[in-house]
Amino acid sequence: MEASMKEKISNKTKEIEAIIYRYLPEETGYQKTVISAMNYTMKAGGKRLRPMLMDETFRMFGGTDRSLIEPFMAAIEMIHTYSLIHDDLPALDNDDYRRGRKTAHVVYGEAMAILAGDSLLNYAFETAAKAFDGTSKDIQTAKAFRILTRKPGIYGMIGGQTADVEGEGHPVDIDTLLFIHENKTGALIECAMMIGAVLAGASKEEVSEIEMIARKIGIAFQIQDDILDLTSTAEELGKPVGSDEKNEKNTYVSLTGLEQSRKDVLRYTKEALASFDGLSCKNDFLRELLLTLSSRKY
Ligand code: IPE
Ligand code: IPE
Ligand code: MG
Ligand code: MG
Ligand code: MG
Repeated sequence: MEASMKEKISNKTKEIEAIIYRYLPEETGYQKTVISAMNYTMKAGGKRLRPMLMDETFRMFGGTDRSLIEPFMAAIEMIHTYSLIHDDLPALDNDDYRRGRKTAHVVYGEAMAILAGDSLLNYAFETAAKAFDGTSKDIQTAKAFRILTRKPGIYGMIGGQTADVEGEGHPVDIDTLLFIHENKTGALIECAMMIGAVLAGASKEEVSEIEMIARKIGIAFQIQDDILDLTSTAEELGKPVGSDEKNEKNTYVSLTGLEQSRKDVLRYTKEALASFDGLSCKNDFLRELLLTLSSRKY
């Protein structure tokens, strides 16, 4: 990646961090422990990719109202972070590191980590609902809200996580694996980009096109995650490597091999970019961001 793109991404990440922090709950009251556990993982860093994709899609379709998009940006990162806290639990992937820190269940105990995940999901909806304050765009906001309720659920992220867990210990076919990748990871990326488009007033056709682009980017993102689990280091990733093998997971690499996996990251990315280039509006930064994801190292 060229230096200027790295710098642009890093500046955007900082801006997004500041937005997210504004929406985090205060650690007070009898709820203090669970709120601390929520904020612990929210403040641990991470690429902030989903809010970035949401914001850049919003900008691409001409969105300007910050009070409309920012609550949704914070909300999607809360949902993503909840999915990570629960994904790391002993009953799921049983991992001890995340975003360069001990995982929430290691620091706060399993019960509090479960509750912190539940709380982040719920607080995401409370947070996104703030977009209704002072906007005249109630219908667009309600449509975005509807996407935020569906994509993380049984017809999205949780659907994928279910098939992922059920596939442990025995090989699944490629269609099942694609279902897993499309849902456990693709769904939140679709959610992010679709909400950006909807809030900016994109047409139904444009939103469907964005959904399809995001699905391909999401699949490529998870294939790359599978590759990195095998080829990277814990220092670089901020999370353990070899987690998939430990859990006898089906991954793109275990099913198709490393070389084919690398080829398919590029293939899905290229297909997504070809559709992206066919849209009637453009965002050069977003295009570059989607491209750089295919060679990400963490
Ligand atoms: C990790 O997501 C979980 C997957 C869907 C592969 P990210 O790689 O976006 O994690 P953070 O947010 O940067 O920590
Ligand atoms: C998880 O996929 C996707 C989620 C819904 C959290 P992984 O289990 O491969 O994600 P990592 O590698 O732990 O981040
Ligand atoms: Mg997992
Ligand atoms: Mg995991
Ligand atoms: Mg992984």
